Amino acid sequence: MTDFEDLLSFVERETEFATSYYDDAYLDRRISARMRRRNTDSYDEYLEMLRTDEHDERAELLDTLSVNVTQFFRDRKVWAALRDVLLESADGTTLSIWSAACADGREPYSIAMLALDAGLDPRKVRILATDIDEDALERARRGRYDSTRTADIQDQLSFLDEPMQYVEREGERGFVVADHVKDLVSFERHDLITGDPKSGFDLVACRNVCIYIDKQYKLPILDTVSQSLDGGGHLVLGQTETLPGEVKERFEAADPRIRIYRRLPDGE
Ligand SMILES: C[S@@+](CC[C@H](N)C(=O)[O-])C[C@H]1O[C@@H](n2cnc3c(N)ncnc32)[C@H](O)[C@@H]1O
Repeated sequence: MTDFEDLLSFVERETEFATSYYDDAYLDRRISARMRRRNTDSYDEYLEMLRTDEHDERAELLDTLSVNVTQFFRDRKVWAALRDVLLESADGTTLSIWSAACADGREPYSIAMLALDAGLDPRKVRILATDIDEDALERARRGRYDSTRTADIQDQLSFLDEPMQYVEREGERGFVVADHVKDLVSFERHDLITGDPKSGFDLVACRNVCIYIDKQYKLPILDTVSQSLDGGGHLVLGQTETLPGEVKERFEAADPRIRIYRRLPDGE
């Protein structure tokens, strides 16, 4: 075993982070970033630092490995198209939406705000939001977001004409999602690789998770989300993500430039 492999198996064994799911180049980039912060240039030395848990390094590393980067209305041109998808899919029955890999909740809350903004009946919109990361889900349930030097929440929300209908201000930099938006969303833990598919969804957003997952796990993830969609339902991926061939044949491109696909009925 190389020193790098030793390090990965320690992390897999001693922490809750399943390194085997992730692409090695991705793991190496993240671990090397931590090593630079600790002025360490050998995997061996860094492993020793994790063993003794000096400076709480295990927690720091876990934080670095779990990429929860997200935004309200991330990739704006997608959201204009999603508004049309929501309106087209609302047929009087309950519209079921799944935000798979929802991080800290900004994606499912954006969907909820968009549905309300498009005039959909809130009693007929149900959004399930899932992630593998319990801490992210905890933050998502709280629904409080602070502007930082690099993330201006007000600017993110400005995709909507009147965003203040959907959030309340708290303190100088804080925004809390309003209860009538929160009411549309429920959160639960779900692992897209090992978890069962769901069923009956009209729209699934599975964005920016496959980009850093090891190649062999992309197919199981996209298989899970595609099985969870009803025929005619829509799938939206991240802007740099694509459907592998085996899954692609179950879909037609609704808007390929922005990675929105429509599920064909079974057997087509
Ligand atoms: C970069 S965020 C994407 C958030 C949001 N979908 C977006 O596009 O803004 C990726 C999320 O995928 C989650 N994730 C990673 N592996 C996962 C898995 N096997 N099952 C479910 N979620 C996973 C991470 O915890 C993280 O919150």
